[in-house]
Amino acid sequence: MEIIHIAAECYPVAKAGGLGDVVGALPKYQNELGHVAKVVMPMYRTKFLYDNQWELVHEGGQALGSHWFHYSVIKEKTNKLGFDLYLVDINGLLDREKIYGYDDDNERFVAFQIAVCDWLSRWQHKPDVIHCHDHHTGLIPFMCKYTYAFRYQLANVPTVFTVHNGEYQGWMGWDKYYLIPAYDSWNWGMLDWDNTINPLASAVKCAWKVTTVSPSYMHELRESAAGLQNLFEYEKGKSYGILNGIDTQVWDPQTDNFIAKNYNTELVAKGKQKNKAELCGQFGLDPDKPLITFIGRLVGEKAADLLPDAISQSIYQHHGKANFLVLGSGNQQLEGQLDHMKSQFNGYFNSYIGYNESLSHLMYAGSDFLLMPSRVEPCGLNQMYALRYGTVPMVRSVGGLKDTIRDFGDWQGFGIRFDQATVGDITYSVGRAIDLYANKPDLYQWMRGHMMNIDHSWDASAQQYIDLYTSLKTEA
Ligand code: ADP
Ligand code: GLC
Repeated sequence: MEIIHIAAECYPVAKAGGLGDVVGALPKYQNELGHVAKVVMPMYRTKFLYDNQWELVHEGGQALGSHWFHYSVIKEKTNKLGFDLYLVDINGLLDREKIYGYDDDNERFVAFQIAVCDWLSRWQHKPDVIHCHDHHTGLIPFMCKYTYAFRYQLANVPTVFTVHNGEYQGWMGWDKYYLIPAYDSWNWGMLDWDNTINPLASAVKCAWKVTTVSPSYMHELRESAAGLQNLFEYEKGKSYGILNGIDTQVWDPQTDNFIAKNYNTELVAKGKQKNKAELCGQFGLDPDKPLITFIGRLVGEKAADLLPDAISQSIYQHHGKANFLVLGSGNQQLEGQLDHMKSQFNGYFNSYIGYNESLSHLMYAGSDFLLMPSRVEPCGLNQMYALRYGTVPMVRSVGGLKDTIRDFGDWQGFGIRFDQATVGDITYSVGRAIDLYANKPDLYQWMRGHMMNIDHSWDASAQQYIDLYTSLKTEA
């Protein structure tokens, strides 16, 4: 089967979060299963672009409203990532330093989607599936089905849309209707939700199948989905929850080049000790105390706003028996608070504000516990990386966290779970972590070994996507 993944992120080309990790891994595993999976994404100005060799495969032009743009598609020459990677270059729109965060993001991603549809519609053959990820590619199912420019070539190509994050929907006022290529006007409803153009909603309506990244999140979306819950309920017949996997080649404590000491299940105690010593050395923390870390976007979904109070409460209530380290960026006020707390809790807490891939690896390896108090967590990859590096996840029971972590109080449990995203629940869980670390060494050691052996690789889930695509072939 030939599968075209279309997304705004793909690790190691460009990554802002878990979307990048998934798009950088799933196609590789699908190729290993004997299929031909390819990735198409925007060409940003990233290090990967300048460090690699490219060949021009297509040039074209299209309209974005009244503005004509030229685009080119380049392909990475050596199959470096284990799949064919195509970048779409649109001068002035996509070739920027950052992935998101510009005032004209709507125009940028609509133009990207038009260029991709234009290119695909000119292929001699058609792919078996077009697999779109998140709202930046959410208009593609509509464009394939309804626009005059593309429907003759693409309406019969099955589309799958994966919701990685339902909180961001790509809303656009109807005053921007002119950006979208022409279609029969009575189909406007396929773009609309609540009187705005909503690319995520449009994708859920128009894609042949809809998936999200864990079974629990699929259920949660029917209850609460930033206004789209009725739509998810209505479309449940074509919707599936498929749990993400992790790239076990990139995330492997035995071979990881970013960490201070490599280790496996047998050498976990020593290996983690060395990494912890390195990490604590860098951040002025005490390696004899349990180290609890947070890695992630500093946004409401991750309940990052609770961190300052939860950490200070935990330090006071548990008499400084645990140390804390936060790596993240996002909300500026929160960034300032977490920066300020460094001096207030010197020796107990430290933070690195910004994005740092190598530090994140060292933190998975050198921490004892990884905290994820998320309010919403479609899947979450951090907890699976933590498992693989023998770090006990402390997670709120929500979405994919619920589907991957079992509390150590339950039969064969290997993590810490709590119900509410509150300072109280986090502080209480910190107490359980300290107790586990200090008073239950045998259980703690067993948990580490056990969690490192859990198989969260993509093998099973990559096959589930293939089965889904296969069911579409018979419909096409
Ligand atoms: P989300 O996609 O919602 O941000 P995930 O848990 O799926 O959450 O994935 C987050 C990914 O981004 C992980 O690979 C995590 O290590 C990484 N990450 C998040 N913030 C940072 C940061 N500040 N520095 C380095 N890596 C980060
Ligand atoms: C999103 C979600 C996260 C998920 C990731 C990859 O960004 O917030 O939970 O793991 O996508 O699917």
